Amino acid sequence: MRTAPAGLASAYVTTVRLNPSDNVVSFDTEALVVGVHPGPDGLRAAPGAEGLDEALGGRLAATLGAMGVKGTPGEIAKVPTFGALTAPLLVAVGLGDAPEGDYDAEVLRRAAGTATRALAGTGRVALALPAAGAEQAAALALGGLLGAYSFTRYRTGAEQTAPVGEITVLSRAEGAEAAVDRAATVAASVSLVRDLVNTPPSDLWPARFAEIAEQTGAEAGLSVEVLDEKALKEGGYGGIVAVGQGSVNPPRLVRLAYSHPEAAKTVAFVGKGITFDSGGLSLKPTASMDWMKSDMGGAGAVFGALVAIARLGLKVNAVGYLCLAENMPSGTAQRPSDVFTSYAGKTVEVLDTDAEGRLVLIDGIARAGEDSPDLIVDVATLTGAQIVALGWRTAGVMAGDDELREEVVRIAGEQGESAWGMPLPEELRKGLDSPVADIANLHPERFGGMLTAAIFLREFVPEGVRWAHIDMAGPAFNKGEPHGYTPKGGTGAITRTLVGLAEQYAR
Ligand code: BES
Ligand code: MN
Ligand code: ZN
Repeated sequence: MRTAPAGLASAYVTTVRLNPSDNVVSFDTEALVVGVHPGPDGLRAAPGAEGLDEALGGRLAATLGAMGVKGTPGEIAKVPTFGALTAPLLVAVGLGDAPEGDYDAEVLRRAAGTATRALAGTGRVALALPAAGAEQAAALALGGLLGAYSFTRYRTGAEQTAPVGEITVLSRAEGAEAAVDRAATVAASVSLVRDLVNTPPSDLWPARFAEIAEQTGAEAGLSVEVLDEKALKEGGYGGIVAVGQGSVNPPRLVRLAYSHPEAAKTVAFVGKGITFDSGGLSLKPTASMDWMKSDMGGAGAVFGALVAIARLGLKVNAVGYLCLAENMPSGTAQRPSDVFTSYAGKTVEVLDTDAEGRLVLIDGIARAGEDSPDLIVDVATLTGAQIVALGWRTAGVMAGDDELREEVVRIAGEQGESAWGMPLPEELRKGLDSPVADIANLHPERFGGMLTAAIFLREFVPEGVRWAHIDMAGPAFNKGEPHGYTPKGGTGAITRTLVGLAEQYAR
């Protein structure tokens, strides 16, 4: 049994375990979750629910049908069992038209998450969903844990609902133990990132984030180094200093490192960590600002991934950089038209102080080159243009070479994170020319903003190092309704993709 460690901000205590029982009728739990498919003659119970219909007198499909259940993904129905099962509550979740035995892992994650989300307050939940293979069991564990997530630190009401206490995955699949353990470790990291994103910026400023990284990082077995504002100035980190200089909460650069004695490869991850993005003197309009506490989601994903990589003991070397600053307007803030010298030595003219993410990232990217990595991946809530192009849920992936871009997109998909490859059209580079400095941080053309931001970053990638960039402005934060295993607010997006990448380079 694995316990997700108490989150930094919320008391996230859901645990997961495996049970080889296939007796859903007498399984001792408070809520038994089964899957249903649409079928030509009404609903069809999914594998995992064997024996159930008989115990219910053959009335399962008719009962659910009468309730309007169609078996489509996202659907959920709660049915009292009136003593026909040991579990007092039966929960049916729709799995759609999955061909029997061949379930898409993401369908299972979402179904499990839909169930645990709807069962908040329940002590013990058993998932009797398709779990013939270890990968399926792990998908149920991950989706179930992520769906159970809740962030309650700032609620004072007496009738607060606790998340599901314990999830049992019913499976006898070979290798399920290790796969479910991995899922629990990854879920703990995603939950940690969600906590950080959800924490209000009054409680999460750069130095505080750095402290949390030091503490949790050390506990996980990472070596952690923090550069404060003085060290950043002396070290020549002009971009991080420039963005952070307007705030009373000074900037930080955190370096997290994990190494394995048998590692053959080194991966470097760089995260945008703007703990609040007001836009600076190029102030954002009110409606664009209220969710800018999520602008550290990239650094969150890098942090969460490094913690998971260390806990999993992957055979890879991994370094993570958290580029932390608060972007605020004030008498000390950088001005549009200011010029700074970046860590890489190139000068940058700041035409718009709201294009600050790229300014902190270029210092992290250049610094990451000193670790001689096999690749650098930066992760950032970088542009509103990403949301315009791909919507809320799909991250944009850009890279210095096509193979790496496709690899990142593929791995994201395998982990259940939506991502799509985007180009770096050469003709856009010219627009970043500055009349006074080596480069400007703003392109005169608004269209293609996600691409011009990436083209700006590319100028600072160390010679000869493979590089990919993930813009997750939309996916980092769910402003809409919860769905599947994704809650409202912080999502922990791209954490799983980075872990998957590290696993790939550990092979
Ligand atoms: N943090 C924002 C991008 C963002 C927008 C993230 C919406 C999540 C949701 C970023 O710092 C920003 O302000 N980008 C500007 C860039 C522009 C000034 C070139 C943008 O996208 O408008
Ligand atoms: Mn901004
Ligand atoms: Zn920003």
